[in-house]
Amino acid sequence: MRKVGISILGLDINQMQSKITEFENFQFDSWHLDVMDLNFVPNLSYGLEFLNSLKFSRACELHLMVNNPSILCEQILHKFKSLRQNLKAIYIHVEIDKQEIEKCLEFDLPIALAVNPDSKLITYEKYLPLVDKVLIMTVFPGFSGQKFIASALDKVNEIKDINPKIEFWVDGGVNDHSIKEIPVDLNVVSASFLQNSSDFKNDLIKLK
Ligand code: DX5
Ligand code: ZN
Repeated sequence: MRKVGISILGLDINQMQSKITEFENFQFDSWHLDVMDLNFVPNLSYGLEFLNSLKFSRACELHLMVNNPSILCEQILHKFKSLRQNLKAIYIHVEIDKQEIEKCLEFDLPIALAVNPDSKLITYEKYLPLVDKVLIMTVFPGFSGQKFIASALDKVNEIKDINPKIEFWVDGGVNDHSIKEIPVDLNVVSASFLQNSSDFKNDLIKLK
């Protein structure tokens, strides 16, 4: 069975906490928190201050679509204790400056890697033995509700060859159709499909 993460991207900011509490009545594995900087991606979401003010009773994974994640990692270590408590992964993108990646990997934090659909293994393979999770982007990051890019999954086996212990998460365009193209040993994140569901319990089961 797959693990399922729910992305809060796109939820009405004013109803965020009540929605989170409502979703937590159901069986899923983690919250997926998308942070965007209007620089690495052409969109802005929320910052750590806002995320830290929310109450999550489930594990959280942070997806940092930013060019300078080390600044945010420093803040998580020293400032945002409540957020840090639930944090099981902090995905930083392999497409950013290599010095930034290396700086982040030195923090005493659960740093993991996010990989865009068109990124070449050669550019990030040396970091794979240093992490235990990889987020495979099946859309170009920035927005929820985009179409699933199945070919992005081709890199999974290449990554497994380098580090067979990696836990995979698939992010972007996951729904009841695209799930059929996702091998069952890969975990999934969903924003729009689950948020817009009229039968949440059943749709959650479809993704598992
Ligand atoms: C996209 C984000 C995803 C997004 C997924 O840049 O990283 O986590 O919220 O949204 P859906 O599931 O609607 O494609
Ligand atoms: Zn994401």
